[in-house]
Amino acid sequence: MKVSPDLKRQEIWAEGNELVTILGRNVDENGRRIHKRPYSEKEFVAEIMEPVLLTDIHAISQLEPTKRDTVFALYGSYPRTVEYDGVSAAWDPKVHIDVWGPSVDTLAFANAMRTTEGVLTEDVISAIDIGTASGFLGKYVLHKCKNLQELHLIDLNPYAIKCAEENVKPLRGSQVVKCYEVDGRKLSGKKFDRIICSPPYVPRPKSIEDNPYEGVGLLYDMIVYGGRYVNRNGMVILTTSSLCEKIKNEAIEEARTKGLKSVDVIGRKRVPLKVNPILNNKEWVSYLLNAGLEKQNENGYEFWHEINILKLSYE
Ligand SMILES: C[S@@+](CC[C@H](N)C(=O)[O-])C[C@H]1O[C@@H](n2cnc3c(N)ncnc32)[C@H](O)[C@@H]1O
Repeated sequence: MKVSPDLKRQEIWAEGNELVTILGRNVDENGRRIHKRPYSEKEFVAEIMEPVLLTDIHAISQLEPTKRDTVFALYGSYPRTVEYDGVSAAWDPKVHIDVWGPSVDTLAFANAMRTTEGVLTEDVISAIDIGTASGFLGKYVLHKCKNLQELHLIDLNPYAIKCAEENVKPLRGSQVVKCYEVDGRKLSGKKFDRIICSPPYVPRPKSIEDNPYEGVGLLYDMIVYGGRYVNRNGMVILTTSSLCEKIKNEAIEEARTKGLKSVDVIGRKRVPLKVNPILNNKEWVSYLLNAGLEKQNENGYEFWHEINILKLSYE
């Protein structure tokens, strides 16, 4: 799929063998059967305007029936490639187990960096993407910062490291792109010009923080201690959500005692919360309703929250 830079238009494309198995392009011009098509072959299938999610089931279900069913079939076919502003990342949940593919949050983050002056600049030499998953955000920084010499991509999930390596290393190789499995809360003392982090942000009582969406430990630590890992004039760019407003504010207060100079909201997007293991857990939902989750039937979704992309700068 491709998403326009302003996030207002999403195009769904069939790629490679999907042209054979889903679009029926299975005979060549001489009438011979084609069983396989290369990944480089692509065909446009549908567009969705103003999508609220990258898998906007409600919007897809409004397409005319054949298009709707084709798009659903494409969504069930992997790998899935997400392309945004000239940068793409592919992901296959059968290979990249429990890896978070690029989502609306990921693209809102990229859009916030793209539209904020002074973030993706020529003087950015080193960067780290903490909780990188598919590697998309790190790859975006690498693509935009022409003088970047060192990009670290880290995650707790070893399959995320494999996915990030596949997506990002071909762009600049191992000299520049370093992927490793490490806890972002236990970084060494190394400093960077940019720390980017789109961490889990859904609080849960007694969370064990072992999956891509739950827990706020990494988010809290990045706000409080992120300043330790940035060079002079460096910055931390971080996603938060209205679901963890209180925790975020406490962390910011704590960070101000440790050299945090300013916090700017560089991007906002109101999005549905659509994570089945959360929504099917009544106790968790009721906890979140007290924490800031909004219950409102809108655009086919029942629960909403606002993500904010923050820029943290230091003394
Ligand atoms: C919501 S996903 C975001 C993925 C990616 N940054 C993006 O925007 O598409 C959060 C990622 O953070 C990783 N993660 C969670 N806690 C972590 C920690 N303490 N250290 C490193 N990675 C962590 C998860 O494994 C997951 O891949």
